[in-house]
Amino acid sequence: MAVGIFDSGLGGLTVLDAVQKRLPDVPFVYLGDSANAPYGVRTPEDIYNLTTAAVQRLFDEGCDLVILACNTASAAALRKMQENWIPKDKRVLGVFVPLIESLTERQWGDNSPPREVAVKHVALFATPATVSSRAFQRELAFRAIGVDVEAQACGGVVDAIEDGDYVLAEALVRSHVDALKRKMPNPDAAILGCTHYPLMAEAFQEALGPDTRVLSQANLVAESLADYLGRRPEMIGKGTEAAFLTTGDPKKVSSRATQFLRREITFTAA
Ligand code: DGL
Repeated sequence: MAVGIFDSGLGGLTVLDAVQKRLPDVPFVYLGDSANAPYGVRTPEDIYNLTTAAVQRLFDEGCDLVILACNTASAAALRKMQENWIPKDKRVLGVFVPLIESLTERQWGDNSPPREVAVKHVALFATPATVSSRAFQRELAFRAIGVDVEAQACGGVVDAIEDGDYVLAEALVRSHVDALKRKMPNPDAAILGCTHYPLMAEAFQEALGPDTRVLSQANLVAESLADYLGRRPEMIGKGTEAAFLTTGDPKKVSSRATQFLRREITFTAA
């Protein structure tokens, strides 16, 4: 047994890296569904079917707890999975809530009524499927009032990153930030609501300017997972086997992942 980390492709490695640093003794099994990435342009039904198949694969691998290190899956599939799919002895957690708790200055599990918070104008950069789910706005509305959210669907960025074309990814980031700024000229905070985007964090910060605080999820998810496992240590299980699994071509995916994390990563076929 181990803790499972799922993403549509390589983006979740930003989360994996942070959780491994925070919890060095926990074995993680990473599964990237590169054969079916990107998810961000798929229908909610499609995303649900692909996500449940991948999470089942991680359950079969002996993981009792799976982190959806993918905003698109968290936004489009998690709620439905929690309602009627996840077995009683398993847990699946998303990446949205830790970020929103941090943005709204809340501790884990603080379910008090929504209140005014310091940020007033928030830019959300995410995949088209995440933006159209409005899951971010829904989760935020449970916790905060008076926050204006402007969402920008960042078509093409995930494909460029998965292809290793960072020049294209950077150009796309600049054009998506320009489009956002036409709708909201001075956001206080910008959420990188896709696990691929931290790789482009500098490009986002540069295009947004120094007055916008850029928030990405990896460290927030790592803190939240450490907190969760502190309260539920039995969810780690007994295993010691870490692994990197992909539905894509293991050789190609390993080389991109190595470039991505700047350390040797070897994927095997899922
Ligand atoms: N990295 C994923 C996310 O956080 C999804 C990218 C995609 O497959 O479109 O949204």
